Amino acid sequence: MPTPVVAGNWKMNTTLAEATALAAGVREGMKALRGVEVILCPPFISLAAVRDAVRGSSIKVGAQNMHFEKSGAFTGEVSAAMLQGLCDYVILGHSERRQLFGEDDGLINRKVKAAFAHGLRPILCVGETLEQRESGRAAQVVGQQVKAGLAGVHDITGLVVAYEPVWAIGTGRAATPEIAAEVMGGTIAEALRELFGAAAGQVPLLYGGSVNPGNVAGYAGQASIHGALVGGASLQAAQFVEIARATAAAKALS
Ligand code: PGA
Repeated sequence: MPTPVVAGNWKMNTTLAEATALAAGVREGMKALRGVEVILCPPFISLAAVRDAVRGSSIKVGAQNMHFEKSGAFTGEVSAAMLQGLCDYVILGHSERRQLFGEDDGLINRKVKAAFAHGLRPILCVGETLEQRESGRAAQVVGQQVKAGLAGVHDITGLVVAYEPVWAIGTGRAATPEIAAEVMGGTIAEALRELFGAAAGQVPLLYGGSVNPGNVAGYAGQASIHGALVGGASLQAAQFVEIARATAAAKALS
């Protein structure tokens, strides 16, 4: 079984001071916790402060996005080379990037390759919209996102994949653990196995979309779900730590 992972996606929230305090709060709450890899993904401007706040602990840091080029005339963008030393992970292909910023599978694939080339671990996000689910196309859409996002990648060491149905993000309308497990243990696991064979079994698969301390155990109790990508509930240290604790506990039993 892959290592259980709980990642907090802070999105465009937290000032520098708030991010530092939140990271310190998570660190404090995580003191006695083992058996789960915890990742904090603050805004770019707080990466260095969060890295410093968790230094010496097992907590890891991730960025929320990056550009695929090394450097150049790309106003407002941040490259993988710039993230080296600041974080270990980078979220790529989040549905907000796809929907609000026009990112498509081809662009995301270039980012995934750039992340691997720079020793960053991509957290590749996939997920269908409500309209795609209701028209029976969820499996096809998600399978295609996995395959296109990883096209041309040969070594997936370090990869994490997050299944985040768009209709469940920030809506309070979480997918049931059964729906999530069907997509993750079925469509996503099969696509990864088709592409990478046995190595696919090492990829942590995270569920994301309205995860909270009250529902996380249901996801972590599924064999094909190895953790969570948490938005809203990651902005409260106590809630986020409880999600990590419940995930570690559920995975220790399975
Ligand atoms: P949410 O966000 O937990 O607030 O639904 C999850 C995400 O977008 O990663």
